[in-house]
Amino acid sequence: MSGTEPGAALITGASSGIGAAFARRLASQGYNLVLVARREKRLRTLSEEMQGQFNVEAQVFPADLSHPLDLERLEKRTAEIANLEMLINNAGFGAPGKFMEMQVEKSIEMIQVHVIATVRLCRAALPAMIARGRGWIINVSSIAAFMASPRNATYCATKAYLNLFSQGLQDELTGTGVRVQALCPGLTHTEFHERPGYENYKTKIPEVLWMKAEDVVEKSLESLNRDQVICIPGFKNRLFVAVMRNRLGARLTRMVTARFQKL
Ligand SMILES: NC(=O)c1ccc[n+]([C@@H]2O[C@H](COP(=O)([O-])OP(=O)(O)OC[C@H]3O[C@@H](n4cnc5c(N)ncnc54)[C@H](OP(=O)(O)O)[C@@H]3O)[C@@H](O)[C@H]2O)c1
Repeated sequence: MSGTEPGAALITGASSGIGAAFARRLASQGYNLVLVARREKRLRTLSEEMQGQFNVEAQVFPADLSHPLDLERLEKRTAEIANLEMLINNAGFGAPGKFMEMQVEKSIEMIQVHVIATVRLCRAALPAMIARGRGWIINVSSIAAFMASPRNATYCATKAYLNLFSQGLQDELTGTGVRVQALCPGLTHTEFHERPGYENYKTKIPEVLWMKAEDVVEKSLESLNRDQVICIPGFKNRLFVAVMRNRLGARLTRMVTARFQKL
């Protein structure tokens, strides 16, 4: 990020976890915020905290990104923010389970929130960013983008989409002053693993493999001006991805993951 006066940052999934950590960090740097999620009360509390602590504007925009009408409203709002400098497509959730044992609507909801919302919001934000010759888009992906994990088929596929989409988009945006990052966190302490199906994670995965949301955000923002689209925060996560990129390593990891999920 450059030294000029910060503009506005729109963050989806700002009501908890990584999104809320982005909001706190960017407000501390003087960004005005547009906070998006379904839980309006949470957003209002965060907004008041940010306005009181950092003297920035923090607008609340309650929306369910799996609902086309809410997304359409948000697209319009996004396109109207003339000084939008940062778009953070972070909203997301996991829903572990075998594809054939889940309602197909759950998979579609995930594709809507992870993929369709990201694509539509990028399209809405980019004209003003390109016109200003300045802007950052962070699409929050996952190290799951590098693996086809059993019981997470749609999750991994949506995150792989975000990585490839971000890379292609960055190529197209070369020379415009707008940069794109696909942020690929590994295990991070947030509310993500409080959903059904993740009961084992907090009790059985050693603490050393987890990161704090604040550290993920710090690594993401530090990497923004580097000439790389994919940002994998944390050495252990980078090691994991390197192993996954090796065919034998990928097979072993899939076996271990499948066993772990049966525990
Ligand atoms: N935690 C991890 O280990 C981890 C690892 C890799 C990647 N990630 C990714 O990081 C991102 C943030 O997750 P997190 O870990 O911070 O989890 P989190 O604490 O559960 O936060 C998820 C956020 O997404 C919002 N959200 C979910 N569905 C939504 C919908 N339909 N419409 C609008 N907002 C929605 C939630 O807000 P409301 O419920 O208020 O709508 C919440 O603010 C996700 O994309 C996730 O895939 C997380």
